[in-house]
Amino acid sequence: KRIVVLISGSGSNLQALIDALNTPALPNAEINLVVSNRKAAYGLTRAAQASPPIPTAYLALATYLKQNPGKTRQDYDAEVAKIVLRAKPDIVILAGWMHILSEGFLELLDGRKNVDSEEDISVVKPIPVINLHPALPGQFDGASAIERAFEAFQKGEITYSGAMVHRVVKDVDRGEPIVVREVPFVKGETIEEYETKLHNVEHDIIVEATRKILGESQSS
Ligand code: GRF
Repeated sequence: KRIVVLISGSGSNLQALIDALNTPALPNAEINLVVSNRKAAYGLTRAAQASPPIPTAYLALATYLKQNPGKTRQDYDAEVAKIVLRAKPDIVILAGWMHILSEGFLELLDGRKNVDSEEDISVVKPIPVINLHPALPGQFDGASAIERAFEAFQKGEITYSGAMVHRVVKDVDRGEPIVVREVPFVKGETIEEYETKLHNVEHDIIVEATRKILGESQSS
């Protein structure tokens, strides 16, 4: 099974996927491409240092728009989709991809629209796209979820938050959850201590969700 991972940052979740390859946690899978929207993303280094090294690509929105005057963010998202589709993935994983993907991307991945290019990267069966989000379904959608959850805890509004992996749909962080894991707060802990707990949970659920979805496509 072929995996493409999209990142923007340190790539610790990418690393969790790399470490799980060829283990019972993630059998019969390979990561064929890592795409970043930031050249400086350390995750690109993790991919290059994997054994065997994982091909990488990066495409920053600002650079794309500068180099393609008149093109829009939808065009950028379609360009990212083409880069992804060339790797012929069975699944696309957003692991800390800090860029909202518009219909320009999603319609190509689920085959509603085919790429208007000579290459043979048309999509026959919709390709599942999943996203890791550091909060529970419907709790803190969007950016700064961890900070907002921690603030709510400090105000006594909640006693736990968590992380989830969900299917990507056009409404940000609103797709059907695949794996959800609660992470309780501990009185007096710092946000850094909470974040460490949360990231460890993320490293588990990103692998579990990938295995689940790849297993589904195996049966279908
Ligand atoms: C994770 O907390 C993820 O939930 C959020 O960005 C972070 C990515 O971390 N979207 P990393 O780049 O995988 O280390």
